[in-house]
Amino acid sequence: MDSILVRGNGPLSGAIPIAGAKNTVLKLMCAALLTDEPLTLTNVPRLADIRTLSDVLVSLGCEIAELSGGRVLALNAGELTSCKADYDLVRKLRASFNVLGPLIGRTGQAIVSMPGGCAIGARAVDMHIDALERLGAKVELKDGYVHASAPQGLKGTEIPLRFASVGATENALTAAVLAKGTTVIKNAAREPDTKALADCLIAMGAQIEGAGTSEIVIQGVDALHGATQGVIPDRIELGTFMIAPMIAGGSIELLGGRLDLIPSFAEKMQEAGAIIEETPAGLKVTRGDGPITPVNVSTAPFPGFPTDLQAQFMAMMCFAEGTCTLEETIFENRFMHAPELLRMGAKVEVQGGTARVTGVSEMTGAPVMATDLRASVSLILAGLRSKGETTVNRVYHLDRGYERIEEKLSAVGADIERVKN
Ligand code: EPU
Repeated sequence: MDSILVRGNGPLSGAIPIAGAKNTVLKLMCAALLTDEPLTLTNVPRLADIRTLSDVLVSLGCEIAELSGGRVLALNAGELTSCKADYDLVRKLRASFNVLGPLIGRTGQAIVSMPGGCAIGARAVDMHIDALERLGAKVELKDGYVHASAPQGLKGTEIPLRFASVGATENALTAAVLAKGTTVIKNAAREPDTKALADCLIAMGAQIEGAGTSEIVIQGVDALHGATQGVIPDRIELGTFMIAPMIAGGSIELLGGRLDLIPSFAEKMQEAGAIIEETPAGLKVTRGDGPITPVNVSTAPFPGFPTDLQAQFMAMMCFAEGTCTLEETIFENRFMHAPELLRMGAKVEVQGGTARVTGVSEMTGAPVMATDLRASVSLILAGLRSKGETTVNRVYHLDRGYERIEEKLSAVGADIERVKN
């Protein structure tokens, strides 16, 4: 299996284009199941997760054509041939569980494998199921599958979420767009990906108000139609590359970057010493002259500090002058990068959901690996300033969510390459 080799070197300079958002495009692809007309998505990133979800959708009868080298996806669910999303496909990608809402909404029936836990936590789906039951579906858990049926269709209702879950909000939203009457999702997720899903559904003819706020109101319609929708820039890729010049020094411009996608993260970066400027093409991030200032962070749903940038922020804090604490509140096991950073000479103590990081003046490269996407990329970032060679193994995690990461970083001067093993 391939690995990524990084050698710590000098400052970075140049520009990196930010790809379309992984966690947006996956939801928009599932929305294609809601109509018998074509849905065309543009600005699609080329990622392994998209190929995995394509397999799930094709297994349900959706036709998918890749155009412009994969930058455009044309999805056509004219005729659904199955309402069952198999374990073998769903276990590879949790986001496949997002087919549940569209399937039950359009066909009144869905059989979707329970996704199970993953490296970062148990990742329950109780709120997804509660939402469907409130909409009038009969839901049974059998043989590891969620069997949901609503032969007479779903009925609009109030869905209060006990936590602003991204996935539960999205399954509730996609189920409700074709329900009879009005649905109100309370304590809804406000993530840009969820808002982008609502925008796509609106382009397909859905009646939705309040997406991007804690209360989403959906007026059910009889049918949705085709549309063409662009994918928003990936805020997690943006945040990841904003950290690169802070660690390696220098300045890079992130083409397509927008502050409204990362409000709390940008604030914490500035506290740490980053100079962030808005440019006509995106955002420019420069490492200031002084040392990296230690900054305490607690992850939270949007607009709070994203859990998907916690590992990368920790890599940066490993080089800060002083000590800080990073609190993870979204997932119960999201510090797998800490023991690997320790192997590179970092000073990190993890206790429950809190990591205490004390900056060091130097780290050294090592062979490392991680069991999730964001943990893996944090090790690459740390490698940008570590002495010698860092080899990040299990590269398939990176390929799930970062498009051509080694090409993008080497274009701004990093010494990084993919090694075919
Ligand atoms: N939760 C429950 N019950 C539920 C649903 C969620 O207890 O019914 C819990 C989860 O166990 C977790 C927390 O709520 O502890 C947050 O889960 P949420 O549903 O908000 O997350 P998700 O939809 O499973 C998406 C992203 C994640 C991102 C989180 C939080 C996608 C495909 N995934 O997951 O992205 O970390 O929101 O922002 O959109 C990644 O890209 O690396 C990634 C993990």
